[in-house]
Amino acid sequence: MTGFRRLEWRDSFSVGIAAIDDDHRRMIGVLNEITASLVKKDYVLCEELFDRFITLAADHFLREERYLYAANYPKAAEHASHHGRLLVMAGQVRERCRNLIKADQMSECFNDMVSFLVDDILGADIQFKSYLDEHRVDRLSLEPKI
Ligand SMILES: [Fe+2]
Ligand SMILES: [Fe+2]
Repeated sequence: MTGFRRLEWRDSFSVGIAAIDDDHRRMIGVLNEITASLVKKDYVLCEELFDRFITLAADHFLREERYLYAANYPKAAEHASHHGRLLVMAGQVRERCRNLIKADQMSECFNDMVSFLVDDILGADIQFKSYLDEHRVDRLSLEPKI
């Protein structure tokens, strides 16, 4: 099937924090499962997967924000509000999918969802990585204390 954007994990996506990279990989995995469900036209599964993706994303954003603040990242608040906007957008995309659940309209909706993840990983998160690199922040020092 054409028209669905697939996203593959690349090493260049890594921010060097295992928990964050794992989340990003998992989110990409669910997006690819969504693609497979669309190819099979299994829209019930697709909606379930969208819900799973949104839960993962919400959980991921909270986790990532803890690292942003632990690193005293100057753009932490801005990055967190960007996450908030992305979650609102994801909810809207899911609603559109629920209401326009036909393959031709689904591809546009799905591509919005992929853009949403690309925005987070390749935009804001890579800026955070650059900050950590420039300031030589030891990633391990950011790990939550138990
Ligand atoms: Fe982020
Ligand atoms: Fe992220």
